[in-house]
Amino acid sequence: KKQSLVLGIETSCDETSAAVVLNGTDVLSNIISSQMDVHRRFGGVVPEVASRRHVERMTLIIEEALTKANVDLSELDAIAVTQGPGLVGALLIGVAAAKALSFATSIPLIGVHHIAGHIYANHLVKPLQFPLVALVVSGGHTELIYMEKHNHFVHLGRTRDDAAGEAFDKVARLMGLPYPGGPQIDRLATQGSPSYDLPRAWLESDSLDFSFSGLKSSVMQLIQKAEGRNEKINEADLAASFQQAVLDVLVEKSIRAVKKAGVKQLLLAGGVSANSGLRVQLANRCEQERIDLRIPPLELCTDNAAMIAAAGTYLFYEGKFANLSLNADPNLSL
Ligand code: KG4
Ligand code: ZN
Repeated sequence: KKQSLVLGIETSCDETSAAVVLNGTDVLSNIISSQMDVHRRFGGVVPEVASRRHVERMTLIIEEALTKANVDLSELDAIAVTQGPGLVGALLIGVAAAKALSFATSIPLIGVHHIAGHIYANHLVKPLQFPLVALVVSGGHTELIYMEKHNHFVHLGRTRDDAAGEAFDKVARLMGLPYPGGPQIDRLATQGSPSYDLPRAWLESDSLDFSFSGLKSSVMQLIQKAEGRNEKINEADLAASFQQAVLDVLVEKSIRAVKKAGVKQLLLAGGVSANSGLRVQLANRCEQERIDLRIPPLELCTDNAAMIAAAGTYLFYEGKFANLSLNADPNLSL
């Protein structure tokens, strides 16, 4: 197989990241600059602020990634950039940087789907074994995807309203917890028990789709009722109850998807795969069912450019290049 050195660039949300990956598997560098500190006081990512931050950091981060990998720009085989989905203004910064680099050096350009990137984060740990099913759970996505081979994605199910991470963030906000809410709820949940009765949206019996907005409304009503009666909510118990309601559905539908697709491997991907309850419960269930579960380490679960470079490498192998008309697409489909 050909040696390949790919630069990855990721700016779809609030992380400015650049990475160099060898052969789609070896991370030579993965520089991630988080903007969490700037957005926290607004209680969420402010798109305009994110774009400005990306502009300030992008060039430095790319230089740092090349330096740390000890790679010269001229040695690169391809430049892979997140094309979408994400915040359009944020995506544009990465795409513009990648296009400028490609134009200046004549190194081929590749547009990568952000979710493909999340899935390929697992490939950086151990090569993917096809066919497989991936559960992608992030701030923007909750999707079950079937992969028969590289670069080949089939949707088995997706959220019909809020994404899982979005539900965590919104419920955390209702509870007065700081942004991002996922890690806060995760931490609180370990101190409580799921004693509040909250709904699980199973939808139609054969559906692998998700819905989390009803659950969010139930939490809101529960909090309002308690306030009306001057009762105190047990925050840890509420966090544990909400988290369990999300996890029950995520775990059960993932197992069903694996069985329906007749595969042996399940990949977890996206920011919510950092959730400690999800990691443990999915691992237990997969062990019972003899499913080979792969979960990336924490630093590869959330947004980073190494996963984009890895996914981009397989597009490179198939000669799927972009040209300089490549544009950011906030609604890019997989
Ligand atoms: O993949 P990611 O970094 O960005 C997107 O592409 O959305 O995912 C961020 C999401 C946020 O909603 C955040 O609250 C959630 O992942 N998250 C968690 C945990 N850590 C991050 N949700 C639940 N438990 C966690 N430990
Ligand atoms: Zn993401």
